[in-house]
Amino acid sequence: METLDLLEKLRQEIDECDKKIVEAFEKRMDIVLQILECKKAKGMGVFQPEREQQILEKVVSNLRNKNFSGEIKEVYREIMRVSRRLQSKRLFSYNIVLIGFMGTGKSAVGMQLSQWLGMPWTDTDRMIEEKAGMTIGEIFEIYGEKYFRELEKEVVQDLQHVDRMIISCGGGVILKDENVEALRKKGKLVLLQAGAETIYHRVKGDPSRPLLKDDMSIAKIRKILDERRQQYLKAAELMIDTENKSIDGVCHEIILQLIEKGKRNLSADSS
Ligand code: S3P
Repeated sequence: METLDLLEKLRQEIDECDKKIVEAFEKRMDIVLQILECKKAKGMGVFQPEREQQILEKVVSNLRNKNFSGEIKEVYREIMRVSRRLQSKRLFSYNIVLIGFMGTGKSAVGMQLSQWLGMPWTDTDRMIEEKAGMTIGEIFEIYGEKYFRELEKEVVQDLQHVDRMIISCGGGVILKDENVEALRKKGKLVLLQAGAETIYHRVKGDPSRPLLKDDMSIAKIRKILDERRQQYLKAAELMIDTENKSIDGVCHEIILQLIEKGKRNLSADSS
């Protein structure tokens, strides 16, 4: 066959393949959403990383030409990311905003949730550091806490326009009512909690905590916690205890509780 004819024929074959892929992918997404509804109805964990690993292994074991296993794995990782995002879009139309004292896991939990839900993650402290071109420690040392709180207020104001993001906030974000108001516009505020002793053990080796720089002690942590308790509780729409729980455990709980809360709001609306 003439090379150009062959090229044309191969392109038609590719078009046929793509049609089948799109058809199968549409069907797959539809099934994924049905599975989501079953899990929701049963109050089951929605995101299961171990299940993704099983799917990946099964897919590779079904391959006729193992030379393509790297490429297929790459495609499947992307398919699963898209699939997580599809489910989270169905579940959460809002930002998930993590608040709480230092050392309650806001950043670690936020990054993990972002991975599971396929939603972008941001952290107010990192945004402030970028804006100021210096670390949080340097801002406190050179300009003081008042200036830091103004920068914090500015980044929070910017965040009232974002959609479907995971936002980990600095521990003091609740000190200004206007911050809480702005974060609530498009988000649900989830309070991560832990006792003073646990917090102390989590942060004691970390020198980048300006509020504890001169007095890294359980007593100091307890004092600040007591001063802020009412503000944390007032701001929170959901509270999660993080004591003795893994990052994954906390993420599962947040997702389940947000789903439950959504169900409760729906039934309250319809009654
Ligand atoms: C602060 C908590 C810190 C950081 C700053 C002030 C606070 O964030 O914003 O040091 O007032 O509790 P993390 O809670 O992420 O450590």
